[in-house]
Amino acid sequence: MPMFRVVTGSTDGIGKAYTEELARRGMKVALISRSKEKLDRVAGEIKEKYKVETKVIVADFAEREDTYSRIKAGLEGLEIGVLVNNVGTSYVYPEYFLDVPDLDKTIDKMVNINIMSVCKMTRLVLPSMLERSKGVILNIASAAGMYPTPLLTLYSATKAFVDYFSRSLHAEYKSKGIIVQSVLPYYVATKMSRIRKPTFSKPSPETYVRAALGTVGLQSQTNGCLPHALIGWVFSLLPTPAAVHLLMKVNKQTRAHYLKKMKEK
Ligand SMILES: NC(=O)c1ccc[n+]([C@@H]2O[C@H](COP(=O)([O-])OP(=O)(O)OC[C@H]3O[C@@H](n4cnc5c(N)ncnc54)[C@H](OP(=O)(O)O)[C@@H]3O)[C@@H](O)[C@H]2O)c1
Repeated sequence: MPMFRVVTGSTDGIGKAYTEELARRGMKVALISRSKEKLDRVAGEIKEKYKVETKVIVADFAEREDTYSRIKAGLEGLEIGVLVNNVGTSYVYPEYFLDVPDLDKTIDKMVNINIMSVCKMTRLVLPSMLERSKGVILNIASAAGMYPTPLLTLYSATKAFVDYFSRSLHAEYKSKGIIVQSVLPYYVATKMSRIRKPTFSKPSPETYVRAALGTVGLQSQTNGCLPHALIGWVFSLLPTPAAVHLLMKVNKQTRAHYLKKMKEK
């Protein structure tokens, strides 16, 4: 059976960087995202550049119906060595829970994409990893899941779920040859963060992923790269109420700035 690495949300940002980095190391990659056109373009580029086999599966993780049976069919006949649960969605801007635009839809979408996808994809690939006593599952949580993050409440809570799910699962299966890693990035320059220019503390997804892959097998919970580990260390010195107060203050400012800009438009 051909051995593949699977990445969810693989056509942009951090997911695309994981896909490329695994392909650069000579591994066959299966890409899962919503848009067939983007999937074909990214898979074509990877095939051309790294001369590895690629496979694309179109799936929208916002939907529950059908998605996982379609993915299961797409992965049929492949051995999965590495699963990167990367797909995720956040707020457009920090907002009070009840004032989040289209709240009911946002709740469904965020829970499906950020939580359900991690559980269901793990459910799909873990049994065959266990049969081989070998496998790696990398779950992309967020530093926003390390402390309660006001005005990003739902996002923060979904990422805390991912972190706890990963760490518990790692404890359950590490003796059986399975590595589960919880990855908790601070800002990375992607579409989601709307940061265009990478800096030392807000690296490009490529720089971030190269560093994060270096921690696999060494850390079961990681901020992924040195600058983010340093920020994590500084935050860990703060008592939780002080961290929450600071995050509330910063997110209030970001919210005010965003709403002012929208008004001007
Ligand atoms: N960027 C940051 O600063 C940051 C910080 C902490 C944690 N994270 C986490 O890192 C992960 C990746 O974030 P990112 O910044 O790289 O995001 P991004 O640039 O917005 O990329 C998201 C990827 O997911 C795919 N996607 C989005 N919605 C989907 C859906 N419903 N079904 C299937 N695929 C979908 C997108 O492709 P299509 O649109 O083509 O489907 C794209 O390939 C997320 O879990 C995020 O929470 C990011």
